[in-house]
Amino acid sequence: MTLTELGLQVEELFARAYDRPPHWIAAAPGRVNVIGEHTDYNDGFVLPMAIERYTLVAAAPATPKTNTIRLQSTVGDSVTEIDLSRPLAPAKKGTWYNYPLGVLAGFQARGIKPPPFDALIHSTVPLGGGLSSSAALEVATATLLETITGKKLNPVDKALLAQKAEHEYAGMPCGIMDQFISVMGKKDHLLLLDCRSRQTELVPMTDPTVELLITNTNVKHELTGGEYAKRRAQCEEAARALGVGSLRDADAAMLERARGKMDNTVYRRARHVISEIERTVQAAEGVRASNWPTVGRLMYASHASLRDDYEVSCPELDAVVDIAQSIGAAGGVFGCRMTGGGFGGCTVALVQSDKVKAISERVAAEYQERTKIKPTLFVSRPADGATVLKKSSGE
Ligand code: GLA
Repeated sequence: MTLTELGLQVEELFARAYDRPPHWIAAAPGRVNVIGEHTDYNDGFVLPMAIERYTLVAAAPATPKTNTIRLQSTVGDSVTEIDLSRPLAPAKKGTWYNYPLGVLAGFQARGIKPPPFDALIHSTVPLGGGLSSSAALEVATATLLETITGKKLNPVDKALLAQKAEHEYAGMPCGIMDQFISVMGKKDHLLLLDCRSRQTELVPMTDPTVELLITNTNVKHELTGGEYAKRRAQCEEAARALGVGSLRDADAAMLERARGKMDNTVYRRARHVISEIERTVQAAEGVRASNWPTVGRLMYASHASLRDDYEVSCPELDAVVDIAQSIGAAGGVFGCRMTGGGFGGCTVALVQSDKVKAISERVAAEYQERTKIKPTLFVSRPADGATVLKKSSGE
């Protein structure tokens, strides 16, 4: 389904839920990270792209006149009411509407006060699949609020506002990658983001002979569970032992020299981050040159490092990468790795376009045989970032 068709579907769903058409519809994509994992909060590089999976938020002014924002999602049928006459505060941990709530709080903190409205949320980004369904929800909400209030934020500020919502309302100390790509994604491009300077470079990826195949292991990943925060703390510990502000300022030789100053786990965490930053820069170079074997090799190396040194993979992710590797270049697979925070979720594989069907069938069958879980596979071209699909005239 195209984004325009999805917009029409959401328009209908809104009308069914609220008995009138929406005035505004905003959409923001999920993402897949091609390479550069767990590097964003170490001031490193990441290389994600927006995918053709979106979260949409449709809304209309509240009626009758109340001071309440009503939120409904097509996943559950209960209605959440946010009373605008009271100060906002996070709901219980794990509550889905903490994401829009945190974004609303960010607007209020900037002196932008959205009026009461009714909203419906619908998403085609798999939830908890490591494809940034939460960033898509935050950024779609932020885009909606920009449209409703007529106050456009600059893209960096918008991404940072969404990240803060995730930190303070959802309790997940994420880096900046997911929100940046959901705001700034561009059709036919990967986004090379320098997480220290926040400079971005759009890297074209238009070669029709390759595709990115995403396999959802359908093992839910749960990042607020503490492991993510633990990894962050270990990276900070390594940086302190190395005497640098962040691991971006370290290199492999420095790490080897300081090996005795940190415990082995912290050493391995740092080894992953330092090598992954290097791989990401090299992979961007490989994409620019359409050198797919090189990009693929770096993806496999990234996976091994995340599995062995960073320890954020799981048997199901490893199984998909293993199957991809056994299909190999002869079968049309250049490389494959886990993508996102880890502990479940998805893998991303760089594959030959004309072999996608055969590869998907083989991965699905072998994965199911090994794990007894049915995976979900799909391909996506790099998509555009957040966009407004409907804005009623006079608004
Ligand atoms: C999650 C976080 C990102 C990033 C990745 C790992 O998706 O939200 O900021 O740290 O994990 O690369």
